[in-house]
Amino acid sequence: MILPRLKRLGIGLLPVFAFLLFREPIPPNLAADERVLLLTAHPDDECFFFGPTLLALSPQTDNLFSLTVSNGNNDGIGSRREPELRSSLAILGIPPERSFLLNHPLLQDNFTQAWDADIIVESVLPYVIQHNITLLLTFDDKGVSSHPNHYSLYYGSQQLLDSLPKDAVHLRAYALKTYPIYIKYSGWITIFSKFYLYAYQTGDAISSGIPTLRFTSGIASYLTIFRAMNQHHSQMVWFRWLYLLFSSYMWRNDWIEIERHVE
Ligand SMILES: *[C@@H]1O[C@H](CO)[C@@H](O)[C@H](O)[C@H]1NC(C)=O
Ligand SMILES: *[C@@H]1O[C@H](CO)[C@@H](O)[C@H](O)[C@H]1NC(C)=O
Repeated sequence: MILPRLKRLGIGLLPVFAFLLFREPIPPNLAADERVLLLTAHPDDECFFFGPTLLALSPQTDNLFSLTVSNGNNDGIGSRREPELRSSLAILGIPPERSFLLNHPLLQDNFTQAWDADIIVESVLPYVIQHNITLLLTFDDKGVSSHPNHYSLYYGSQQLLDSLPKDAVHLRAYALKTYPIYIKYSGWITIFSKFYLYAYQTGDAISSGIPTLRFTSGIASYLTIFRAMNQHHSQMVWFRWLYLLFSSYMWRNDWIEIERHVE
């Protein structure tokens, strides 16, 4: 008795599921004068973690830039990874002329090493100034995967904000929220919570300066992020495919504003 009923219920819910899957969310509007810099640690961060945000913002502006700190040379194949990074970013909407790589000798890919905040500030600040960046996007203090290179960028960005003169108020910074592990790997289930997620998506979130912000993907964005990830030929070992299948960061990004510490 119960089983056929469940089956009917399942079939009945299919259209709802399809709607949630295929619906591309309407992203929060980016104000016309915003100039955005995504600050990442390694090639492939852009598609592993930041895809929903890049795909929401890139159609809205030509003032979206990417700065990757290291070329991911931990395995000695950094130079192979640089063109992979450029192709991936291009698919996510940032062409090569707006994507930059630092490759500072003291900020190299290393799983056991945190990066010095002073060096981050002095390396990143010239890009912020040259492109008149108004919005800096980076990792939070847990760096999604607790990679010290990732969370170093949070502390570097915090220090960068704090070091600016008080009248340079037009720079704000946001950190990508690290989800607890049960949310991090529940990617497809995220779809079911989309009604709830939409409820929190506000129209002009960035320009009104509210402290949290959310971007979500529909299936089309998911597949684009998948394609971007495929550009990283040197990285596609089996567990990365698992990540693609289960990661929530393919479907949603939540951002929290990094507050300036002012005396
Ligand atoms: C930089 O951007 C801000 C905010 O959009 C704007 O007020 C300012 O005039 C810009 N400065 C330059 C030098 O372009
Ligand atoms: C990574 O950093 C550690 C020290 O934290 C150092 O011993 C090691 O040689 C570094 N690895 C590479 C590949 O530079």
